[in-house]
Amino acid sequence: MCGIVGYIGKKKAQPILLNCLGKLEYRGYDSCGIAISASGIEVHKDAVRVRVLGEALSVLDGTVGIGHTRWATHGEPSKVNAHPHCDCTGRIAVVHNGVINNFYKLREQLADEGHTLASQTDTEVIPHLIEKYYDGDFVKAVELAVREIEGSYTMIALMADESKIVAARKDSPLIIGIGDRENYIASDVPALLDYTSRVIYLEDGDIAVVSADNVDVKKDGSSVDREEHKILWSVEDAQKAGYEHFMLKEIHEQPKVIRDTLAEYISAAEPAADLTVGDGGLEDMLILACGTSYHASLVGKYIIEGLVKIPVRVELASEFNYSGQASTRSRAIVITQSGETYDALMSVKRLKEEGCQVIVITNVVGSTVSRIADQTVYTRAGPEISVAATKTFVAQLIALYWLALPYSRVDIRRLDDLVMELRQLPVKVQQVLDNEAIIADYARQLAKFENMFYMGKGINYPVALEGALKLKEISYIHAEGYAAGELKHGPFALLGSKTPVVAVVTQDNTYESVITTIKQVKARQSPLLALVGEEDETIIQLADSVITVPQIDPLFSPVVNSVVLQLLAYYVAKRRGCPIDFPRHLAKTVTVE
Ligand code: AGP
Repeated sequence: MCGIVGYIGKKKAQPILLNCLGKLEYRGYDSCGIAISASGIEVHKDAVRVRVLGEALSVLDGTVGIGHTRWATHGEPSKVNAHPHCDCTGRIAVVHNGVINNFYKLREQLADEGHTLASQTDTEVIPHLIEKYYDGDFVKAVELAVREIEGSYTMIALMADESKIVAARKDSPLIIGIGDRENYIASDVPALLDYTSRVIYLEDGDIAVVSADNVDVKKDGSSVDREEHKILWSVEDAQKAGYEHFMLKEIHEQPKVIRDTLAEYISAAEPAADLTVGDGGLEDMLILACGTSYHASLVGKYIIEGLVKIPVRVELASEFNYSGQASTRSRAIVITQSGETYDALMSVKRLKEEGCQVIVITNVVGSTVSRIADQTVYTRAGPEISVAATKTFVAQLIALYWLALPYSRVDIRRLDDLVMELRQLPVKVQQVLDNEAIIADYARQLAKFENMFYMGKGINYPVALEGALKLKEISYIHAEGYAAGELKHGPFALLGSKTPVVAVVTQDNTYESVITTIKQVKARQSPLLALVGEEDETIIQLADSVITVPQIDPLFSPVVNSVVLQLLAYYVAKRRGCPIDFPRHLAKTVTVE
């Protein structure tokens, strides 16, 4: 999604803005631009990468500026549609993240009033509205302009000859970075890590007037206090550290992520959240999420139903928001690594309106979701830069195990064993990583295919879904994840020598049934790669290739199996020469519907 940045201070703004924009590339974008205030406003923008934009520029003089990476919603990616957008006088420039629902109406009104709008974007109405309301007071003009806008309007406005920039937040994140006689604005923490660890999170409806030595946050016209936070992520956390791609680095960080997340939970005096069952406590549970977080939620269903023994309903947040029967009798969990996904936020708002207690699992401290939930459980994965979620997924699984274990209704011996096994997970994941070369070899064989199925059953059914999602998003191979038992209800028609199947086999009550499906798949000539938890003669006989994953209790097998499938997707995509960290058309944080 769009990334926005701003700088005001004593240094030249241009290199700082370009560097900050570079750090937001991971959010996904198709064009970019900056506006610098020196003698007047100078705008440079195009449908190019940030590096290319920077290389085409000589260093500009101004010490105040704004910048933007655009992820097209209204109008194709092009120079004219790229941000910043200006008013008729060219003295006001705006960058914006969000969608203005009433922009057609505003556009027509402005045109009738004599404004000429050049782009197809919704954003361009904002600088013209500011121009319309400007009578010598820049801040007032921004306040009046945003009152006209319906929809989401997180934005920064810059005006020639003003020693301040004005930022407004609605429905997308915006952070002020506090420096020494200089201040920064950004959509996201990684943009600021090179400059400051002191931040203020703006809230919906806030308007921040930012000068070099002051930040004044207003709500409904009056100044309000917004707490300053210290960022714990380091610059190194958001760098590749010698890896070719962020995704590979993030896959390799997973043993540490599991350790850090577990350490955080173990050191807490209280369970992460109250899941007490019965006697006025929980009777059932609802979990909502999108994308990879939805797959973690599906694993969560098996974890909570297996341990806590209550029924769990899992829904896509985007569908839940349009469903007729929203409320749940007890409590809901919403999972979102970014804490900013539009559909996830909307589902939290709806649940709360209907009186439901909402626990969120998120990776980003201070994210919007954490400020509207009743309770937040943080994962400690550090910044995830690659668009494809890997370490945050595994961290979400750890959070779900940890939520469920204290309320487990299995017998004490089994519980002790499970806690021991959970603590073993970093070692088991490291063993998978040590097998990277073998997995990369299989990936090279799979890279030539254009269609693939992933299948799993029980707790590893969502793992098949996630494996297929990873593959399609970074390698552009069409892949579908299926419950093993469902393949025969349609997808079998697509099987054959050109459609490999990756089977996740678990040594639990699903084993025999999955073996049956594998035989049926092989009878239809599909090449078959199986993931199995131990040397297994039956599978070796049946499958074309076998990846042996470390032995672990089936409850935790989604963690090790997922890491194998992440590496498989990575090496397939690498073989196909894909832009692994920034897949086409995708955004890391999806802040629009
Ligand atoms: C995963 O690889 C994707 N990039 C995507 O599905 C992602 O998980 C989804 O957009 C949800 O994001 P969230 O966890 O930040 O809410």
